[in-house]
Amino acid sequence: HPPSLQMQGVPPLRRENCRAKGGAPGFKVAILGAAGGIGQPLSLLMKMNPLVSVLHLYDVVNSPGVTADVSHMDTGAVVRGFLGAPQLENALTGMDIVIIPAGIPRKPGMTRDDLFKINAGIVRTLCEGVAKCCPKAIVNLISNPVNSTVPIAAEVFKKAGTYDPKRLLGVTTLDVVRANTFVAEVLGIDPREVDVPVIGGHSGVTILPLLSQVKPASSFTSEEINYLTNRIQNGGTEVVEAKAGAGSATLSMLNTRRTYSKMQAYAAAKFADACLRGLRGDAGIVECTFVASQVTELPFFATKVRLGRGGAEEIFPIGPLSEYERVGLEKAKNELAGSIDKGVSFIRK
Ligand code: NAI
Repeated sequence: HPPSLQMQGVPPLRRENCRAKGGAPGFKVAILGAAGGIGQPLSLLMKMNPLVSVLHLYDVVNSPGVTADVSHMDTGAVVRGFLGAPQLENALTGMDIVIIPAGIPRKPGMTRDDLFKINAGIVRTLCEGVAKCCPKAIVNLISNPVNSTVPIAAEVFKKAGTYDPKRLLGVTTLDVVRANTFVAEVLGIDPREVDVPVIGGHSGVTILPLLSQVKPASSFTSEEINYLTNRIQNGGTEVVEAKAGAGSATLSMLNTRRTYSKMQAYAAAKFADACLRGLRGDAGIVECTFVASQVTELPFFATKVRLGRGGAEEIFPIGPLSEYERVGLEKAKNELAGSIDKGVSFIRK
């Protein structure tokens, strides 16, 4: 069907029942905010994933164009577009995984708090839709600030009576991907061979790379530890500054809007793929994610988890820390506590 017809909710195609490669069942994935700086490349990457049989692309603007574009790829997934609030429920019904990179960028005259309220409200509305239409779906939450939007989503699901802490996952893969890359650079090895656990949360000092637990086992000088930790925590700023370059103020504002989106889309697609393999029942799928947790006194914390059919089926402990990391952990927890409270009280107030 041409996208114009897809928009009008044409009945399911016969291809709907198709199976992904290898005879395994395919999964249904929705992206909410699919027309954005992250959403568009993420739509491309999910359309390439052989485990996806149906891909729903939802946004409040431009989703027909993105859908038309991506739907012409000759990969297995059937793509359908959904535009605006009246089509949210159709976008969500029957989904196995819902990926949420929706949000608005800061506009001139808007305070951080204004922005928080708007994006928190967007996440609330979208999660109300999830609770109603696909309460068993695994949610991959990307919209920032993740340290607050995950607690917001949890409160929404609790209110609706659908909350399953194992199925609500804040995406922090971006930090892990950066950590692997930068550590590999320092060690002079292939980043695909490197595994850096990154725990805590998803902004500034809450991002805590555990260099003492890097695989393959490696030791770092204190200078390297400082350099790597700072670079991993501030990777976003590095990209913003590089993109702003010599451009005018206007250009740099435009650029900050869609800053590290390709890398984020790659990281989000990598995490979604791990969730899909977990859903399929693959053994030994381990990723870091920001999730409801008892490894610290905080209600949410990012650590390694094992992904399975039920989402984050096992949450791994932090493991032994260096002195440097113990200090970092205290700082991370202090800041995280405030961000979590801010999210919870946004819904409870
Ligand atoms: P963007 O502004 O380019 O795209 C956001 C998209 O969301 C737009 O297409 C917009 O129309 C859409 N949208 C707005 N309201 C909506 C609603 N009510 N329902 C559905 N869609 C809606 O922003 P970008 O660069 O794609 O970033 C998206 C979010 O991801 C931001 O909150 C950003 O801070 C966050 N982010 C998260 C990262 C992570 O690692 N978790 C890394 C980078 C960004």
